Amino acid sequence: MAFGDYQNEIYFNGLRGIVSVLPVGAAELEERAQAALPPSVWSYVAGGAGDEYTQRANVTAFERWGLVPRMFVGAKERDLSVDVFGVRLPTPVFMAPIGVIGLCAQDGHGDLATARAAARTGVPMVASTLSVDPMEQVAAEFGDTPGFFQLYTPTDRDLAASLVHRAEQAGYKGIVVTLDTWVTGWRPRDLATGNFPQLRGHCLSNYFSDPVFRASLAATPEQDSQSAILRWVQTFGNPLTWDDLPWLRSLTELPLIVKGICHPEDVRRAKDGGVDGIYCSNHGGRQANGGLPALDALPGVVAAADGLPVLFDSGIRSGADIIKALALGATAVGIGRPYAYGLALGGVDGIVHVLRTLLAEADLIMAVDGYPTLKDLTGDTLRPIAR
Ligand SMILES: Cc1cc2nc3c(=O)[nH]c(=O)nc-3n(C[C@H](O)[C@H](O)[C@H](O)COP(=O)(O)O)c2cc1C
Repeated sequence: MAFGDYQNEIYFNGLRGIVSVLPVGAAELEERAQAALPPSVWSYVAGGAGDEYTQRANVTAFERWGLVPRMFVGAKERDLSVDVFGVRLPTPVFMAPIGVIGLCAQDGHGDLATARAAARTGVPMVASTLSVDPMEQVAAEFGDTPGFFQLYTPTDRDLAASLVHRAEQAGYKGIVVTLDTWVTGWRPRDLATGNFPQLRGHCLSNYFSDPVFRASLAATPEQDSQSAILRWVQTFGNPLTWDDLPWLRSLTELPLIVKGICHPEDVRRAKDGGVDGIYCSNHGGRQANGGLPALDALPGVVAAADGLPVLFDSGIRSGADIIKALALGATAVGIGRPYAYGLALGGVDGIVHVLRTLLAEADLIMAVDGYPTLKDLTGDTLRPIAR
């Protein structure tokens, strides 16, 4: 079945008097999620750094590019599949790591729900280090869909190694090391309410279940959660330098992908250091305000990557955005906040719905504009929109 067929399903349901209770557009999705989520979770998920200029710019950057349609192509069938890091994916889309995704579900187990949505859609989940349920239980829900583990590198190298080896054992297909969050960015929304979920002990299960972490405590987290949280604070953020890259590389033979890279020179150094993929992202504008939209960094990153796969996220809100990022050279595109909102509204079904709407629109654009395969999405299919 083509991804675009989701629209027929929706229209035919309409004929039978059934209208989806889940929103189709990004704005309504966000609005309805706000009403569904507890205020503290909403502000943590929706908020960003500073006055959120960069976060907004990530989204509006897509409006500066226009796709050029081609006719007489007859793109009756579209192939959205992609080979990356030794796995074949049905689409060039994945779910970006979201540390508090666990808290976005009504039952408080959003990591498991996301993994189940990955199993149902074939859209991989990049599971965050910060999760309600430990990575092994998350991976057990992936079905046949490959999953990736996102590492926040702790200061304790043994703990880092332990987390990576657990991910290997649990069957993850790659390690995504996030570089832009060894310290938390300035986030006025959360500061205004003094709310930082991890300090309240949320989403620390990968640490609390880890043998190396547990061995560093005088009492178990079950006996003394405050001391365990304090230990987590001490170990969480490692301000990595290039000197750490050989060590990171030595931790695993799984594909190693570095997240948060926006400068071509950083791409070249990472490539020289033996990484398998570059992940161009500014963390959805949550970390440093005043930055360029991530999309503006993408072409330079792709050029410097020189054939190495480039993952991209930050600001994707529609199928058109996915197509534009691919046309600018991304190998695969990460969905962030929208799937958290889908989860808040409809659990696993809500995530599946959000992913299907995005993929349906992307597929139908490829049909209408005459791009039957991802290879047809070249720089030539995009033009900057004159202002
Ligand atoms: C609530 C929230 C939590 C996040 N947690 C993580 C995380 O644990 N690890 C990580 O690498 N990125 C994390 N990110 C960043 C996302 O992976 C992604 O870069 C970002 O959401 C993209 O921006 P967008 O959602 O506006 O499209 C988080 C983002 C949000 C919204």
